[in-house]
Amino acid sequence: MTALRLEDLKQYSDTLRTREGKALSVRFVEPRDIDELQHYFRSLSVRSRYNRFFGAISELPKALLQDFLEVGERDRFTVVATMMIDGFETIVAEARYALHAETMTLEFGLSVDDHWQGHGIATALMKNLECRAAALGAEHIFGETLRSNATMISLARKSGFAFVNHPDDWKLVRFDKEISIAPKDIPCASWRLAALSRQAESPSASV
Ligand SMILES: CC(C)(COP(=O)(O)OP(=O)(O)OC[C@H]1O[C@@H](n2cnc3c(N)ncnc32)[C@H](O)[C@@H]1OP(=O)(O)O)[C@@H](O)C(=O)NCCC(=O)NCCS
Repeated sequence: MTALRLEDLKQYSDTLRTREGKALSVRFVEPRDIDELQHYFRSLSVRSRYNRFFGAISELPKALLQDFLEVGERDRFTVVATMMIDGFETIVAEARYALHAETMTLEFGLSVDDHWQGHGIATALMKNLECRAAALGAEHIFGETLRSNATMISLARKSGFAFVNHPDDWKLVRFDKEISIAPKDIPCASWRLAALSRQAESPSASV
């Protein structure tokens, strides 16, 4: 469905910038990230973890950690944003997204290390997720957040998302944005290429 070359995931790496211009690399998670990813979640503040998972957890349960590492499985993907800190590639943000092929929507959730919040990382990561959504042919991108999460709500509003009530849970709000961008206009180079090759392979595909 996704037409991604899962055996060569490294080609889908992007460089993003914080608001101050510091470079971040965004790539699919790899098996070697398992300890660092768990460390990242353990290091988040209680509040950030609560906002990310809508409940109190101190770390990723084993089964969920395993799910996070299985890129492409059931059209679900995890990306990490890393920075070189003191000579080490360090995870400073993560996002997980799923392509719902039946509705051609891409659902995502994300978090940014508390020390790096407020530097524009989530703004940049969400733009990158929009590129990924467009390349996969999604017509909408959406996320869900607790109504109490003013930061995420403000960020989604500034990023052009509209809000709708969650169908089943009054504590959550859904934010949604239409994706209507031609493959040649996708602003992330690697995803523009992916979309163009997908279009070439299947010219009738609506992207
Ligand atoms: C929500 C979250 C992802 C934002 O990440 P971030 O990298 O700090 O966001 P940005 O720096 O790109 O900020 C973008 C906008 O968010 C809003 N924002 C950021 N920090 C805020 C705060 N403390 N209070 C209110 N709004 C805030 C602002 O509108 C900001 O834009 P501005 O700086 O131009 O005013 C981050 O706070 C986080 O990881 N929270 C925990 C997990 C979570 O809530 N995930 C969302 C649900 S899946």
